Amino acid sequence: MKKPLILALIILSFSFTDCQPNRQPNKETTHAFANKIDSLLSLMTLDEKIGQLNQLTGNGEVTGPVTLSQNYQEAIRNGQVGSMLNVNGAAYTYKIQKIAVEESRLGIPLIFGYDVIHGYKTIFPIPLGESASWDLEAIETKCKGCCCRSCRRRTTLDFAPMVDIARDPRWGRIMEGAGEDPYLGSQIARARVRGFQGNDLSENNTIMACAKHFMAYGAAEAGRDYNTVDMSKRRLHEVYLPPFKAAVDEGVATIMTSFNEFNGIPMTGNKVYVNELLRHQWNFNGIVVSDWGSIAEMITHGAATDRKDAAEQAMNASVDMDMEGHAYLHHLKELVSNGVISQNQIDQAVKRILEKKFELGLFEDPYRYCDIEREATVTLSKKHRSLARESARKSMILLKNDHKTLPFSKNVKTIAVIGPLGESKVDMIGTWNARGEGKDAVSLVEGISNVVPDARILYAKGCETEGTSTSEFNKALQIAQKADIVIAAVGERAMMSGEALSRQDIRLPGMQEALVKKLASLKKPMAVVLFNGRPLVITEVAKVAPAILESWLAGTEAGNAIADVLFGDYNPSGKLPVTFPYSLGQVPVYYAHKNTGRPRIENSRYTSKYIDGPNKPLYPFGYGLSYTSFSYNNLLVPETMSGEETLLISVDVTNTGEWAGEEVVQLYINDSVASVTRPVKALKKFKKILLQPGKTQTVQFELTTDDLAFYNRNWKWVAEPGYFTIFVGGNSENTLSRDFQLVYNNKN
Ligand code: GLC
Repeated sequence: MKKPLILALIILSFSFTDCQPNRQPNKETTHAFANKIDSLLSLMTLDEKIGQLNQLTGNGEVTGPVTLSQNYQEAIRNGQVGSMLNVNGAAYTYKIQKIAVEESRLGIPLIFGYDVIHGYKTIFPIPLGESASWDLEAIETKCKGCCCRSCRRRTTLDFAPMVDIARDPRWGRIMEGAGEDPYLGSQIARARVRGFQGNDLSENNTIMACAKHFMAYGAAEAGRDYNTVDMSKRRLHEVYLPPFKAAVDEGVATIMTSFNEFNGIPMTGNKVYVNELLRHQWNFNGIVVSDWGSIAEMITHGAATDRKDAAEQAMNASVDMDMEGHAYLHHLKELVSNGVISQNQIDQAVKRILEKKFELGLFEDPYRYCDIEREATVTLSKKHRSLARESARKSMILLKNDHKTLPFSKNVKTIAVIGPLGESKVDMIGTWNARGEGKDAVSLVEGISNVVPDARILYAKGCETEGTSTSEFNKALQIAQKADIVIAAVGERAMMSGEALSRQDIRLPGMQEALVKKLASLKKPMAVVLFNGRPLVITEVAKVAPAILESWLAGTEAGNAIADVLFGDYNPSGKLPVTFPYSLGQVPVYYAHKNTGRPRIENSRYTSKYIDGPNKPLYPFGYGLSYTSFSYNNLLVPETMSGEETLLISVDVTNTGEWAGEEVVQLYINDSVASVTRPVKALKKFKKILLQPGKTQTVQFELTTDDLAFYNRNWKWVAEPGYFTIFVGGNSENTLSRDFQLVYNNKN
């Protein structure tokens, strides 16, 4: 492996022992890298420095609109590229890295980015589904075990986790995040960053994570992707920013700016929030990368006259890396020559990129992430499939189970699976499925035959996922008539959620709702299995279906995991990370709403309500049933808490059913009177516990004043004295509650 002599001399003088774990580089690490970075920087021409800020897409998937094509191999040779994305496979990654290291003047290695959102070759549940597990340990393990070990054969930067809070199910990318709540979203963001990055980016099973899309991308008006975002500073700081702050506090290596404008300023040129808040207030010193072409898109937003203007704004916002925008490469030199952008601004951006390349160990071994032999071992290993099946099981939510319809007996003789998703494989892996392939996924029919091999399984599609034809209804009903039990497999295709895949009507698409009603009219034991990337309006389904299992898009092992739940090999424990509306007309509808001055009172006219529907959603945040049941008793909350104390709360949870089961014990608070109105409930703690039948566990939580704090009228982060209510339960609606008073000894 040849590398330019200059770089070799720098590397040789770099003793790896200087390098400490890098999650939060300590002074020694920064110092060691700073010396080497300064040495390297002193050798770089302005063109080569600007080249480090340029990120181009390679020969793999195209994940955005291609505006300008470029011979990236030639550009790499000329020192005009600092990183690539979407480069296919370890072998090609090696080839491209070789050009950078052996054919460019300084031989600076490239960073390779890729979207490993929910698995690389073995696909896991979509992130919204994984979040329904509320199992932080499992989430971290998945990110570490499967994503890193698999994709790091070609990837140094995983464009994940997506941490955008989303409260509008019309938005297709709601599938990619952790739902509606800032606390749950923050905890999951931390778990995912830990899983990807570990404690040392140079280790063999870690890669750089990327918290995206900064910021408030999930609040796109009307749920239409890339649409305008406009909101109060308070809502931004209380709802949309916390998961990003959590990721930064967890040491995330990179942040991606979002496509949207925020209150009139495109985020990729938003100096106030990227430079001032992220960099200076939060002390984020990692790499900020634009989203695909989002620097150049400032022109389309009407916020920049041309790419040069856009480049100036993005650099002033301290965006380091231009993903496929072709703005930095072609215009920064002129901006520096004209004194519009300083040489120091360029140097700071280059230093942040070089520092990560050092932390990744790329200067030691630029080919460490192009492991062709190891890539060949990523063949859907049994271990990864087993982890994927376990993750899928945990993601599922039992939404309804009248008369204990579920679990079905394994002794059932004939099973009818009816619905357009019953035999689908490719839809199980959703979008953002990296190197995953539908052919490797287990369909629902296959999973059922694996779990109950002696049963006779009849299948009929009944209808397509889209369209108005009911021509196959009768055939489906005839088949269902022959069966002992009916399983309806309905929902959305994979390409009905994800980027640029928003929907105006979020009921079951096509004629599926009508199909379910016809099947229900047979009065047979029936379960509806939902396949979807967003909350759906299933109110009509819920009126007729005895049982409903939310399976999301559960990945390569979907069919097996669903069958495990349907036939009792796994007791479902998932809880909704996002509200399921009663109707689209309620949207946005979420649990942490305000009380208003006229909360709804039944049969009272002048209250906040609809005359054609309820205020309450169909299923609330945090909701999910089990094959067993749990009771909550003996909620103990001290009557008062001082400003210096920790409030110790306990509650007894009993498994009152016949099944061992897991329960997510959730703790919410309400600050009843404050200088600004507070949500009726806000999630502050949760614990997932396993209880054997008949057993009781006393679950304890500790609250500090920081858990009670918010930005007051003067924008000070304070916990105001006064009365609070603690709510504890298995969802955000049915809870025990106790009041307490926060008193400050030295304040009234
Ligand atoms: C896409 C997405 C972003 C992704 C990037 C690279 O447009 O918005 O989430 O990481 O481009 O594929």
